[in-house]
Amino acid sequence: MKIVVIGGSGLIGSKLVTKLREHGHEAIAASPNSGVNTVTGEGLAEALKGASVVVDVSNSPSWEDAAVMKFFETSTRNLLNYEAAAGVKHHVALSVVGTDRLSESGYFRAKIAQEKLIKGSSIPYSIVHATQFFEFLKGLADISTDGDKVRLPHVLFQPMAADDVASAVGRIAVGPPVNGIVEIGGPEQFRIDELVRRRLASLKDPREVIADPKALYAGAKLSERTLLPDKNARLGETRFETWLTQSAVKAAAATH
Ligand SMILES: NC(=O)c1ccc[n+]([C@@H]2O[C@H](COP(=O)([O-])OP(=O)(O)OC[C@H]3O[C@@H](n4cnc5c(N)ncnc54)[C@H](OP(=O)(O)O)[C@@H]3O)[C@@H](O)[C@H]2O)c1
Repeated sequence: MKIVVIGGSGLIGSKLVTKLREHGHEAIAASPNSGVNTVTGEGLAEALKGASVVVDVSNSPSWEDAAVMKFFETSTRNLLNYEAAAGVKHHVALSVVGTDRLSESGYFRAKIAQEKLIKGSSIPYSIVHATQFFEFLKGLADISTDGDKVRLPHVLFQPMAADDVASAVGRIAVGPPVNGIVEIGGPEQFRIDELVRRRLASLKDPREVIADPKALYAGAKLSERTLLPDKNARLGETRFETWLTQSAVKAAAATH
């Protein structure tokens, strides 16, 4: 089966392409890097020729409110139009658990707009809502840094390894469209401020993490359970400590 992975050079996309190929599929990594740009339409018609499934795991280069909205609206519209012309049978997109509860954030308003376009199109679809990736914990600190301190609310979340995200998205991509949302999450719950503190310590990052009930997440207020998936979520296997050990081994190997 020909499966085009939009954002195939990214964190999730590159893992997904590898996994799909291991399962015998013709997986095409499509992104500006390989001449396919969903914002301008460049290379899309060629890439989608003969494709059964398109998986969109791209992300906006800018998270500024107007830029991120323009990225997800324009790229999703283009993608769905080119898919209809190419006869694609399943559109899969990766979004975030709790997106609909986070509309105070410009980034999440853009994800809501992306999902609305998908739901309103004629292409059968599956929207995968994932929790935060372990790999994003440092990025979470970066977007929450105020001077030399990281301010995060002391609320629950259930993060997961990017590898488990890619496996789950791959399984959904080769299955029938659900025409709805599938939630995926990690095997354990944590407090955001506590886990980001542990991650920064493991990286020897000196920033202090402060539990601040007024701190926002990408511009949105969080309550205790805003970021948690519901009971039916499919859970990844990788525990945080296992991931941390594996990523430390990989980082050490990369510097030798
Ligand atoms: N971070 C989290 O914790 C989290 C949690 C749940 C869901 N998500 C969702 O997961 C998705 C993927 O995230 P990620 O961290 O894997 O992304 P990433 O590593 O930042 O990769 C982004 C990808 O998008 C591609 N891209 C950028 N502009 C493009 C364009 N104009 N046309 C086509 N492709 C374009 C990039 O291609 P080039 O390399 O060629 O520039 C790259 O392959 C996002 O939609 C995000 O909302 C994230």
